[in-house]
Amino acid sequence: MKKIAILTSGGDAPGMNAAIRAVTRVALYHNVGVYGIERGFEGLINGEFKELEVHSVSDTMQRGGTWLKTARSERFRTPEGFRRALDMLENFEVKGLVIIGGDGSFRGGLELSKGGITVMGLPGTIDNDLAYTDYSIGFDTAVNTVLSAIGNIRDTSSSHERGTVIEVMGRHSGAIALYAGLTGGAETILTPEEPIDINKVCRVLIQGKNRGKKHNIVICAEGAEITSQDLTKTIIERTGLDMRLVILGHIQRGGSPTARDRMLASRMGYKAVELLLQDGMTSKAVGIKGEQIVAYDLEEALKVERTYDESIMDLAEILS
Ligand code: F6P
Repeated sequence: MKKIAILTSGGDAPGMNAAIRAVTRVALYHNVGVYGIERGFEGLINGEFKELEVHSVSDTMQRGGTWLKTARSERFRTPEGFRRALDMLENFEVKGLVIIGGDGSFRGGLELSKGGITVMGLPGTIDNDLAYTDYSIGFDTAVNTVLSAIGNIRDTSSSHERGTVIEVMGRHSGAIALYAGLTGGAETILTPEEPIDINKVCRVLIQGKNRGKKHNIVICAEGAEITSQDLTKTIIERTGLDMRLVILGHIQRGGSPTARDRMLASRMGYKAVELLLQDGMTSKAVGIKGEQIVAYDLEEALKVERTYDESIMDLAEILS
């Protein structure tokens, strides 16, 4: 393989730049040419290819977001758009493509793979919702961003002896809520995966107050059964507690990646290129299991069903 390309797709995640850097430098180390494709699949269709040099990725690892930019592409889903994407790769003589993104991006990669391209998927999403891997690039940074926000909110809410509902990202995944909730000492955590017992939420908060707690933190994932607005209103109505609502939103998607995310991205980027350079290699999803960087057949990886670790919720309840 003489030329490969890399693109980022779907929601951005801190650490994507570290992955682009690793892929670029490992490829150049092996004298393989690398193109950065801007704006994900949309840029692929438009032929937005940039030849990358060693210095193209200097000073990027510490930056959040993706300097290659990302986009959602409706055109890629059409037969014409898809054909054009394949033609572009052929025009630039690219046979191997690294895609950093989430589930939807991997599915796009699988289609390209059926069209003859060898695709390496790197999991890049703050939601940590790709079941085949223990962790995705960006999750650790997002959790630490939420932790920092919880710390600030605690300062003010304990001064005022009030509670706060903090809405975190995760339309379908409670991973950020669970990890930040446990490590941030939240009283209650609400996730999309579990039914909500509002009576229990109120009971926990009242018990806390009776035990002399100065403030309460409730973490609510954006995809939970109840909206954070309705939750806050209901808690106030039923308990009489002074509560505020803070929606963290896209703050969680930005910021300099943690050492853990930079390490994960660098190791996964390295693995992706090493695999691409092997003769007869087929498309793979790169992940981490325990401390090992692993790679599974792309199609099989997408079939792995998500599981929900209830023990984290149980532990959070015991510790709060
Ligand atoms: O990247 C995943 C995610 O952050 C989800 O947690 C969230 O629901 C969604 O993206 C928000 O997407 P957008 O940036 O399109 O509003």
